[in-house]
Amino acid sequence: MKVLYVCSELYPFLKTGGLADVSAGLPPALAALGCEVRMVLPAFPGVASHATARGAPAALPCATPWGQAPELPPANITLGELSGWHTPVYLLHAPTLFDRTGNPYLGPDGTDWSDNAQRFAALGWAAACLGQGLDAHWVPDIIHCHDWHTALAPAYVQAFRDQGLRTPATVFSIHNLAYQGLFPYETFSKLGLPDTYFGIHGLEYFGQVSYMKAALQFSDRITTVSPSYAREILTEEQGCGLDGLLRERAHLLSGILNGVDYQLWDPANDPLLPKPFDAKRLAGKSAVKKALQKKLGLAVRPDALVFGVVSRLTAQKGLHLLPQVLESLVQNGGQLALLGEGDAALEQALREAAIQYPGQVGIRIGYDETTAHTVLGGSDVVLVPSAFEPCGLTQLYGLRYGTLPLVRRVGGLADTVVDCTTANHAAKTATGFVFDALSAEALHAALLRAFALHQDSKTWKTVQRRGMALQFDWMASARHYCDLFHALRP
Ligand code: ADP
Ligand code: GLC
Repeated sequence: MKVLYVCSELYPFLKTGGLADVSAGLPPALAALGCEVRMVLPAFPGVASHATARGAPAALPCATPWGQAPELPPANITLGELSGWHTPVYLLHAPTLFDRTGNPYLGPDGTDWSDNAQRFAALGWAAACLGQGLDAHWVPDIIHCHDWHTALAPAYVQAFRDQGLRTPATVFSIHNLAYQGLFPYETFSKLGLPDTYFGIHGLEYFGQVSYMKAALQFSDRITTVSPSYAREILTEEQGCGLDGLLRERAHLLSGILNGVDYQLWDPANDPLLPKPFDAKRLAGKSAVKKALQKKLGLAVRPDALVFGVVSRLTAQKGLHLLPQVLESLVQNGGQLALLGEGDAALEQALREAAIQYPGQVGIRIGYDETTAHTVLGGSDVVLVPSAFEPCGLTQLYGLRYGTLPLVRRVGGLADTVVDCTTANHAAKTATGFVFDALSAEALHAALLRAFALHQDSKTWKTVQRRGMALQFDWMASARHYCDLFHALRP
């Protein structure tokens, strides 16, 4: 089974969020199950600078069997290897589109690159062309796409299929329905898709072009990254305007929970932690907590209940609730250790909180992998109060590091954290704190429950150890994907 994995981010080369972690974790697990996996991604400098070419460049075709072709600058793909990475990678070279450092989607001013429609049309086109034998030595059976950046691939594949050509099957994984790749109507004529592909049964979304809709419409199967999110996106509340189409195609939709790369996220073997620890040697965690307190300017108090956050600061993450509960958190003897970047108003509110509560609220605005491991390893509780969360990874990392997740009951958070209720303690399943309403009151009530449990250090340790023993490994997820692939290409 040959699988072409199409994505825009790959840890450790280029990462803006969990998507990059998934690209690093899933392909090797698929390969371990016998899939022959290759990836295709844009030659962003962070990726291309680690690549060694293994083949000659192949130019993307500028013509299609149905007439019009995508309007693109000269572009080619080259098969290569990335240092320290085993999966072969096709890099899509189009210097005018991709030779830009920093965030792959945003310019230095923090807004979308104005040519994103063209940039990511190129990625979809490259994937579809590989499906038609652009590399004659390797033609995929399955094209597996991830998020809107790759979402035109299934549309191009369908256009080839309409011509009676044999094509791979397509699987599209939604990591976040809120980011859709919406562009003005004028974009459509430059995509090189058949005219009939615009319209209610095509890419049209209220007069605009929606890449996400293209994938939902034309993929053979749709997946998302947790069973709960797969149900939630069928509702008007969480469907981001695409719930109608998703309900129509619900028989093709499934939720497959993400995994964790325990090579990278293992407190017993984590080079980014100042001291290793595991479930038997929790003392090491106290040393990490101390290092965290020092690093973020918190008072070094072993007894303080430290709440950690590692997150993009966007409306999705529910962190606008945080400033409203900080006074109580601090009064109860707690501390906040936060690493994140994003929304300017929230960054400012957090900076002000750090000034208002010196030594009790420590924040680091920015993106930093080492600090992320220190926060997730050194905190007692990891806060993820998301408004919506397709899967969420930091609660899974927290579980492995003995850092109890405190989460809102939504999406993948609901699927992975079991609330510390009396019944769940008795059933030996409790792993964290779960609350329902997206409100400061509900978050506050959950924080108070964390403080209360922390008084009972024996039960706290039991819950910690239970979470640390859980396995959310990639092999389990990969098996579900493999079953899906085999059902499509028996
Ligand atoms: P999302 O993909 O929605 O941002 P996830 O929980 O799936 O959320 O994944 C977030 C990933 O990004 C995790 O690996 C987390 O550790 C990392 N991360 C988020 N913010 C930062 C940051 N400021 N610095 C370092 N890593 C971060
Ligand atoms: C998205 C989601 C997040 C998920 C990640 C990886 O960025 O917001 O919940 O964990 O993708 O699938």
